Amino acid sequence: MTICGLDFGTSNSTIGVLQNNQQTMVPLEQDSDGHWHSTLPSALFFGFEADQISFGRDATNRYTNGEPGRLMRSMKSLLGSASMADTTQVKNRFYTYDEIVGFFVASLKQQAEKFLGENSPALESVVIGRPVYFNDTDAELDSTAEEHLAAIARLAGYKDVSFQFEPIAAAMDYEKNVTSEELALIVDIGGGTSDFTLIRLSPERHQQTDRQSDFLANHGIHLGGTDFDRHLSVTSIMPEFGMGMPMAARPELSMPGHYYFELATWHRIHLMYQRDVLLELNQLRLDLSNKAPIDKLLDLLKRKKGHHLAALVERAKIELSSCDATEVDLQSLFSDGSDLTINNCLLTQEQLHLSLKRDMNKIFRALDETLTQAGLQHKDIKTVFTTGGSTALPMVQNCIAEAFPNARKVAGDLYNSVGSGLLVEAIKRYQ
Ligand SMILES: Nc1ncnc2c1ncn2[C@@H]1O[C@H](COP(=O)(O)OP(=O)(O)OP(=O)(O)O)[C@@H](O)[C@H]1O
Ligand SMILES: [Mg+2]
Repeated sequence: MTICGLDFGTSNSTIGVLQNNQQTMVPLEQDSDGHWHSTLPSALFFGFEADQISFGRDATNRYTNGEPGRLMRSMKSLLGSASMADTTQVKNRFYTYDEIVGFFVASLKQQAEKFLGENSPALESVVIGRPVYFNDTDAELDSTAEEHLAAIARLAGYKDVSFQFEPIAAAMDYEKNVTSEELALIVDIGGGTSDFTLIRLSPERHQQTDRQSDFLANHGIHLGGTDFDRHLSVTSIMPEFGMGMPMAARPELSMPGHYYFELATWHRIHLMYQRDVLLELNQLRLDLSNKAPIDKLLDLLKRKKGHHLAALVERAKIELSSCDATEVDLQSLFSDGSDLTINNCLLTQEQLHLSLKRDMNKIFRALDETLTQAGLQHKDIKTVFTTGGSTALPMVQNCIAEAFPNARKVAGDLYNSVGSGLLVEAIKRYQ
């Protein structure tokens, strides 16, 4: 039986397999410099010219290079959302979101099987990671999301499908290097969710299959890096495109904000390209005395540059995790196929801080709730293990340092801890 651990992430996915009895993260994609990456960005591109679907970096590159087609990112955010049952039109076909997630999950499986070689049997048993909550307010949507993901995995060819919470998987990865018993707080802040586990770890416990008595608390919140992108975009970039502009006839009213929120939300950007949205915006344009910002918005939407804009904001956020200020290259959005011009925009760490303040408060309140569930106080925590791309934010690191001054901080692999721990779990369950 061939087993694997699958971390289907909002932003990045990984898959861990046993190769010659060694736990290995599958090299999933080679970039243009020839480097192999164990992460596949959770992106998919329907290319209209060759009628083919591409994945990962290849998908985003094709879109950025202007190839005709449709880019989709953050598909996981649809799982557990009210839009989960919707279909979406790509050229002249309608796809369910399950089908689209299915293409991606199947491509990960194929890539892993290719890596294992044609003499190796197909992957049959998988432990898939899941956030503590796909939906943190609606229990029914939450369990439906897991059912959908299980059905998608079976359709992709897996026979045994089971789940583990992502922060518990990260704990299993960390525990490989634990030398004596400890109580650890695991913090996984990714693209879509922030998840926490309080768990007792030790080398002896690592060998046991039933860990139920070691889990002190699991908790999470549906808030992560893609929300940070949205909030940074809405506060700092969208005003360039008319957000907040007063309407001429009734200055007490301003341009409706929901258009800008959609445009700044990775998995909803395509909704802004719809004909009726463009018609509504053209109608609103008539009521603005300064039409330049909305003209830029309309031009950007007609040329389907929404994902390009979101990628610029995400890049700025990442750059601000290691420098005080960065320039957002808005000019690149209008460099081809447009007569309009726009100035680049300077973003500072201070602006990022302000735009993420509320998110940080919510995340750290959820973290406090995790401790309350376990009946523990901050001072009881001896180790904080962090993983997930968003834990690279200095704001996150500073909040952790402040909340747990006496705990040892262990920075895990930002992208591979969950996938690697899911494989540990798969070995216990299926081997
Ligand atoms: N240096 C950085 N500073 C801030 N954010 C970063 C940095 N590097 C990556 N990120 C953010 O981390 C997120 C991706 O992290 P990760 O790959 O762990 O998420 P994921 O596992 O796909 O999501 P989830 O587990 O929530 O479904 C993105 O939002 C990305 O912008
Ligand atoms: Mg993750």
